[in-house]
Amino acid sequence: MARTLITNGTIVSATGRTAGDVLVDGETIAAILAPGQVEALGITADRTIDATGKYVVPGGVDVHTHMELPFGGTTASDTFETGTRAAAWGGVTTIVDFAVQQAGQNVYDCLSQWHAKAEGSCAVDYGFHQIIGGVDEESLKAMTYLVDHEGITSFKLFMAYPGVYYADDGQILRAMQNASESGAVIMMHAENGIAIDVLVAQAIARGETDPMYHSLTRPAELEGEATHRAIQLAKVAGDVPLYIVHMSASEALEEVAEAQHRGQNVFAETCPQYLYLTLEDQLMQPGFEGAKWVCSTPLRTKHEHHQSDLWKGLRTNELAVVSTDHCPFCFKDQKELGLGNFSKIPNGIGGVEHRMELIYQGVVTGELTLERWVETCSTTPARMFGMYPRKGVIAPGSDADILIWDPGATTTIGVEHKHHMNMDHSAYEGFQIDGKVDTVMSRGRVIVEHDTYTGAPGHGRFVERGLSQYLR
Ligand code: URP
Ligand code: ZN
Ligand code: ZN
Repeated sequence: MARTLITNGTIVSATGRTAGDVLVDGETIAAILAPGQVEALGITADRTIDATGKYVVPGGVDVHTHMELPFGGTTASDTFETGTRAAAWGGVTTIVDFAVQQAGQNVYDCLSQWHAKAEGSCAVDYGFHQIIGGVDEESLKAMTYLVDHEGITSFKLFMAYPGVYYADDGQILRAMQNASESGAVIMMHAENGIAIDVLVAQAIARGETDPMYHSLTRPAELEGEATHRAIQLAKVAGDVPLYIVHMSASEALEEVAEAQHRGQNVFAETCPQYLYLTLEDQLMQPGFEGAKWVCSTPLRTKHEHHQSDLWKGLRTNELAVVSTDHCPFCFKDQKELGLGNFSKIPNGIGGVEHRMELIYQGVVTGELTLERWVETCSTTPARMFGMYPRKGVIAPGSDADILIWDPGATTTIGVEHKHHMNMDHSAYEGFQIDGKVDTVMSRGRVIVEHDTYTGAPGHGRFVERGLSQYLR
């Protein structure tokens, strides 16, 4: 098995930074050595990577992606092959995607389909959450089986999208009770979909069809209300661990913070789009341009304080994780399905490639520390979803999933610049980052270096996850 030494870098973890060398042996990290130890102990390797002036951090863990998701009359434009390659370009070495079940479908069949899509295609390691779009006796039994036998220990439910994935409060309660028994985490899309559908129909009837109405018909109050309801249901269900996905509204964050202060097991993630992009600057662009940024929960106005509240929540751990909710659609033919009717625009933004970059820029601008960057983008996602310490940390015995980050170089995001996702536009066109993905290693294999992709489809393996380590 090949041995690689990463020398002279600054190793950054969730709790601190230290000068040292990392010895990789085969697929795992063999040792972390203080400066001088390599020479003193006579350690040799097949290859040495000089990380002088660079940060050596655990590879990114993005726990919210949707590769090849059939949605809104079309299919998300990244396959597992193209999407995980883009992830690699962005320093992400593990994704957790969502296998989808809808009412009337068999959970095991749906999961098999997701395995078939991913197997042999991925550039980096991958796991699955299971969406339960139809809560019934069968799917409840399957939830337990997946936890016990399939390495799937988290389930996403929807308070939004009536008629597609929506679950009513009784169904949610039953799924939560089931998860409370098995130890699984419930992930919640917390928006009041029934009320939103009324607002959408009223807007369309008034002729308000432009993309910006997507946000105006999904008010922050209805994200806050659903978050509150989910929290109460989770408490009634035995304080099942509840994880609110893709949070965009201050109102929702307040609910989570209050529940945490009461001691409830409630956690939340946000995504770069909610930290950087707004109703006015993106969704309200002239004509149909705004369709590029239609996603749910929606981008919020910059005239309230959602974006600054979310940054604050990240600093204080009210928000534990940054994911991307990577759900890419091309503008041509896909977003265009909603020309003349915003409610027909497929919901989703692609960003799996840019999360490490965009959140690092928050370090540069003083929003959070280097350690917190590592914690929210790698360590906590791994712990939250049962992959730690195999993923999310540079430590002896852990998988050698490593990102070498160059703080002295820069990155320009955009289709003519750095862009490897299968999309005809970038949600972050022109964004400048004061740092750069330098080298990426996945289980001991260098998959990106010298601005070149050196990985291969099929290198990425399925990760059977255990129960969340965040609570025990
Ligand atoms: O707009 C979004 N978020 N699309 C993906 C599906 C979901 O709700 O996560
Ligand atoms: Zn969702
Ligand atoms: Zn999603």
